[in-house]
Amino acid sequence: MTINNNPENKQAEPGRKITLDVNNMFAARLGEEQGIRKSQVAELKPRAREVHYRIQEQKPGFARLPYRQDKVVSRIREMADERAGDYDNFVVLGIGGSALGNIALQTALNDPYYNLNTGSREGYPRLFVPDNVDPERFAALLDLLDLERTVFNVISKSGSTAETMSLYLLAREAVAEEVGQERVAEHFIATTSRDSGYLIEIAEREGYPSFSIPDDVGGRFSVLTPVGLLSAAFTGVNISELLAGAAEMAERCRMEDIWENPAYLHGALQYLAYQEGKIMSVMMPYSHALKDLADWYRQLWAESLGKEVNRRGERVNVGPTPIKALGATDQHSQVQLYMEGPYDKIITFIEVENYRRNLEMPELYRDLDGLNYLGGHSLARLLNTEKQATERALTKRGRANATIKVSEVSAFTLGQLFYLLEMETAFVGELFDINTYNQPGVELGKNYTYGILGREGYQDKKSEFKDWSDPDPELIL
Ligand code: PA5
Repeated sequence: MTINNNPENKQAEPGRKITLDVNNMFAARLGEEQGIRKSQVAELKPRAREVHYRIQEQKPGFARLPYRQDKVVSRIREMADERAGDYDNFVVLGIGGSALGNIALQTALNDPYYNLNTGSREGYPRLFVPDNVDPERFAALLDLLDLERTVFNVISKSGSTAETMSLYLLAREAVAEEVGQERVAEHFIATTSRDSGYLIEIAEREGYPSFSIPDDVGGRFSVLTPVGLLSAAFTGVNISELLAGAAEMAERCRMEDIWENPAYLHGALQYLAYQEGKIMSVMMPYSHALKDLADWYRQLWAESLGKEVNRRGERVNVGPTPIKALGATDQHSQVQLYMEGPYDKIITFIEVENYRRNLEMPELYRDLDGLNYLGGHSLARLLNTEKQATERALTKRGRANATIKVSEVSAFTLGQLFYLLEMETAFVGELFDINTYNQPGVELGKNYTYGILGREGYQDKKSEFKDWSDPDPELIL
């Protein structure tokens, strides 16, 4: 793979590298029946070329994020520098694309017990991202927080999402009771569209500071906007490194040739495998820090690629089902299925070369043969050996898999991963010839909710919701 020599976006240093190994997707390793042939990739090349130029022409908003944010990054940093010390708690009120990136960043880059560990937090606030309207969970959170020392970042691109706005209403009232109406504005930030939706109107009325989500960046592609950057900066993450990593990957993903572009190569193989019945895409990091990256990717992949119609309005009902798994935990949960179940999956491992901490096992119980082999090895060695062993075993059984190898988990490599997976999603969406950036399938359920709860303009949905056949009592136990 060649890398652009643009001095602005230097090739990643050894400790900040990502490689993609797709050997185990091909017939040479998997056998003719399950493996992809290089000739199939060659046949896809003309389509991939067209797709490449279509993406270049579309200029999707997410692809410009690594480069165009100097001002907003300075503003976020200034705010975090000035105000992080004023709060013990930073709460993100958002859902889906307005929440999952925050969680992925936090899990990857901060101490695993960050919220519990005041030492490692060094004065930064704890982070909470409820990402749901479960009343038990939110009530418990409000009970837990000292609202005098809490700031809420309300994130909604549309500015009207029921889940987010409900939590906002509750938080607004609880804060006002605690600190008084006149000081409410000290406890809220709004992150939303510049000029549409209710949230920006509320922010203006209440005097909340606000950050914009660019119009051309959809929720699930917005982690590198203030949506993800603000909570990251408030918890001490180096957001410039995150964007630098994304910029480095953007250079690598600018290549037209599938064989030189990691996003295109992985995407093309997933697309070819899908055509042959491998309709599930498992992401399995062998690093707890990356477990929520797999969750973020699950949403990115599902909402972007699961579509009923193609660009020409023809019914296609496409979309690989994304599955998140975690090594080694899910070796004791999912791997039996991946080894012996249907040949309908591709597994993408993420392997980390250097863990930020490591532990060597003591050499105890030397007389116990089934145990004494562990002494002297480190947990990192055990975890990576388990990954390599699982990879080998899956390959031996003809199960398609690929590995994204990350030199270490850092803001830089996480930025690389976000960008890689976003570009891959855009590329696969174009191969399927669908609109990657909409999500019409979630509208009907939302509209029924609005109708039932009495939102103006949705009365017809209330009647439609009620208008179905009576339940058959035999079918309810
Ligand atoms: O990716 C998406 O577009 C969605 O998951 C949205 O992020 C989610 O529905 C929340 O929308 P909003 O940010 O408008 O509140």
